[in-house]
Formats: sequence, structure tokens, C-alpha cells
Amino acid sequence: MSESLEERSRFARRTAWDRSASELQDSFRLSADVSLLDLTVSNPTACGLNLDAAEILTPLQDLRTLQYAPDSKGLLSARKAIARYYADHAAAVSPEQILLTASTSESYGHLFRLLCDAGDEVLVAQPSYPLFGYLADLADVSLRSYPLFYDYGWWIDIAELERAITSRTRAIVVVHPNNPTGHPVPPEEREQLYGLCVRHELSLIIDEVFLDFPHDPTARLPSFAQGPAPALTFVLSGLSKIAALPQMKLGWMVVRGPDRECIEALARLDVIADTFLSVNTPAQLALPHWLDDAPALQREIRCRIAGNLALLRGGVLALYEVSAGWSAILRLPRLFEQQTAYATLRDAGILTHPAHFYGLREAGSVVLSLIVPRETMQQAVERLRRLLETRA
Ligand SMILES: Cc1ncc(COP(=O)(O)O)c(C=O)c1O
Repeated sequence: MSESLEERSRFARRTAWDRSASELQDSFRLSADVSLLDLTVSNPTACGLNLDAAEILTPLQDLRTLQYAPDSKGLLSARKAIARYYADHAAAVSPEQILLTASTSESYGHLFRLLCDAGDEVLVAQPSYPLFGYLADLADVSLRSYPLFYDYGWWIDIAELERAITSRTRAIVVVHPNNPTGHPVPPEEREQLYGLCVRHELSLIIDEVFLDFPHDPTARLPSFAQGPAPALTFVLSGLSKIAALPQMKLGWMVVRGPDRECIEALARLDVIADTFLSVNTPAQLALPHWLDDAPALQREIRCRIAGNLALLRGGVLALYEVSAGWSAILRLPRLFEQQTAYATLRDAGILTHPAHFYGLREAGSVVLSLIVPRETMQQAVERLRRLLETRA
């Protein structure tokens, strides 16, 4: 973006973002159009889930919410409930290893500040979640990407990841399972990641917000809070996905790894968190109840995802292999001779995310949400099928 001289002196360069990303604005504007089938909705409060209002609201009536007695790491009652969540995932986590934040995004912000000086680098997968660029800019951190490659599923290109490490690299971010590829980290990749972190003295930041959404109903994805952690590791999660409560603004991180590094990391994070004290008391007090209710909601979401995936696959639409999470990547190779797949679908009345939002290079792919209402998916698949037939 070109900046006028006045803008240059008045505002910090870190906020001089290119805000003209027209397709993004396009999709916000278009999503208000009711004739469009919106397959971008991944807000769990806006896709017709069967949420029990009383179960969500009753815990907020706790009289202790009238008192302000902050703990910089988060109220002990909340941290104990999070430790129980990990115990249910076969991971022994002490409340002392847990730090609450207002969201996973805030956890990233705290960690970038903890680990990086201005100009230091953090490695993120490509494709992955588009918010990282902004989070890094705000902490004066440079993002470098490492590729995932596709071969009957997505894999981390470990050799390329190692080549991307420089003397300024401080951490590797891994989303497990990744958004939008739905790729969980298998044990051999976990070992390789730890090997790299130990060899290059890097920290590992693992985002597990989609951990509880494997598509195979008999599967359980192992958390990075479980098993050995030979390098300093931060395991991130929060209420927005696992309890479908993004509006309650509550996330957390678990700090693991060699003892001395953990103690120092926790002491420094404590000061960062104490500076903001951003986690609200009512949500912290309600968290144990919401986590108790989460498994039933997760079952409903997994059921929604399974139904939507069956519709997509039954409509003989080509998907990249996906085994977990809330999104899928659709390939439409025959439709993009003149237009991107995103634009073709938008013109046909179906709103998706353009692949490049997530750093996917193929113009013939789009990203869609798997938690949209079943009727929306059904109509979209029908529309898509007709579109493919007319183009065949
Ligand atoms: C991978 C990933 N991490 C974090 C978040 C955001 O979580 P929070 O609402 O806790 O900031 C998202 C939101 O879509 C996400 O896709």
C-alpha cells in the first residue's frame, strides 16, 4: 500500500497493512446476501448448532463473579479444570503449567513477545491459518513459511522446514490438526519436529484448537501435552472450538519441556499476563462447567461434519484427503480456465474462501467450512453438481 508522508509519520509501520485484499472484503460483503449459499461460516454460534442456553448461562450466575481477585496465570479453579481436560486426554498436566489468556490469538501474541526480539523469525506451515501474519506484525516478528506437501494426505516437508531455519529463528508453529488441511501430526513427524527443535534450540508452539475433532468417530488424536517434550513446548487451546464458545474469550497454554526452561518461561509469561490481566472472571468461573458440557457438543459437531463430508463425497466432488477439523479443501480443476475456483463458485451463488487466503497456491481450489447447516451443504452440493455437469 502506498502511504502518504503524513500517514508515515503518524502511524507505526507495523500497522501499514494492505487492507485492499478485495476477495476478503468481497466475502464479508457477500455473506450478507441471503441468496448465496455461504460455506465460509465457521462461527459455531451462527450455524444452527443445538446449544443449550441454560447450560451456557447458568454458570455465569456465580456470585463470585462480583469480586475482582485476579490471578495473573488465571484462577486456580479454571486451571484445575483444564488439567482435568488433559487428564481425559491421557496427559498429566499440573495447574502450575497452565496460563490462561483471552484467546488462542492472545496466546500467540504473548509467546511471540516471550520468545522473539524485533526481527526474529517464527516458522509457520503453508497452507495454514491466515491470522498469523497479523499476529507476527504486531509483535515485530518475521514469519517464514515451511511447506506441507500432499501425497494421499498432507505431510510436513521436514527437509524444507530445516532449510528454512536461520540464526534468527526462535520457534516453529504447528497446528495439530492443521487448519485448513485437517492434517494431524503423526508420531514420526512429532519426533522429527522435536529433533529439529533440540538441534537448533527452538521452541515448539502447538495449536490444538481442533484436537477433539477427528473425523473417525473411534479415533482420538494424541495431544502434545502427552508424552516426552525434549524441547520447550507450548500447547495452545481454548473454548472457541472445543466448547464451541468463541464469544466467551478464553484460551490457555500449557508449558512443557526441560525444567529450567519451563520455570523461566512461566515466570516471564506470568509478568506478560499480569500486565494485561485480560481474562474475565465470569468466564474463568464458568469454564469448569463449560468443559464438562463440551463432549456432548463435540459429538454434535462431529456428527454435522460427518454428514457434510458424506454429502460432498456423495456428490462426487474432489476433496483433498481430510481426517480432522472443521474445514476441507475442494478441488475444481475443470472450472478455472478463465477464473479462479473461488470466483466461479461465487458467480454460481456459493461462497467459499479463496485458496490463497491460506497460502494454497492452486487457483482451482477453495476452502469451505464443514460445520455449516446440512441444508446449506445439501443445496450447495446440488448447485455444484449442476455447475460441473454444464462445464463437463
Ligand atoms: C488454527 C486456529 N487457531 C486459533 C484460532 C482462534 O482461536 P481463538 O478464538 O481462541 O483465538 C483459530 C480460529 O479459527 C484457528 O483456526
